[in-house]
Amino acid sequence: MGDAFLAMLERDQRRLLRLCAALEDIADSLPRSRERMQTGRVLSFLNKAFERHIFLHEKVLFPLVRSLGGPRSTVEPVLAQLELEHATDHGLVHEITSFFLNGCAGEPRTSVQVLGFLLRSFFENYRRHHSWEKNILYPIARVHLSSGTIASQHDALLRVSLGVGGG
Ligand SMILES: [Fe+2]
Repeated sequence: MGDAFLAMLERDQRRLLRLCAALEDIADSLPRSRERMQTGRVLSFLNKAFERHIFLHEKVLFPLVRSLGGPRSTVEPVLAQLELEHATDHGLVHEITSFFLNGCAGEPRTSVQVLGFLLRSFFENYRRHHSWEKNILYPIARVHLSSGTIASQHDALLRVSLGVGGG
């Protein structure tokens, strides 16, 4: 299950990187892209995908990594920074969705510029964030999840967190 969990994290990362590419295309194609039905679908999926990303990391992976290092672990500042970035980027997702649905009062050109800025802020932030998780955090998880004891403890934690039965 350790390998299965790592594969799940990698699928999660690929899904969000594909979404970033779609958001970049939307930002590059404004103002036309604002009227496309596909844009609404992408933004709706973005919210679900990002909430799943936060769940997998903050409720499953980070507790595991914290349990390995103790309270004074050198990885703690990295985890705290990643949690802060999740909160900031989750806020951006809400702003993007709200702005897409409601726009803002005033000149349409300003609305397009603000939406473009919010989209670019999100995908640029997320690509940096992804790099930290991929290059710093996942190698730590990979080493420990390949050890039998930790992997079996992690199985139990993952099953409880995802609400799936044993077996
Ligand atoms: Fe993350």
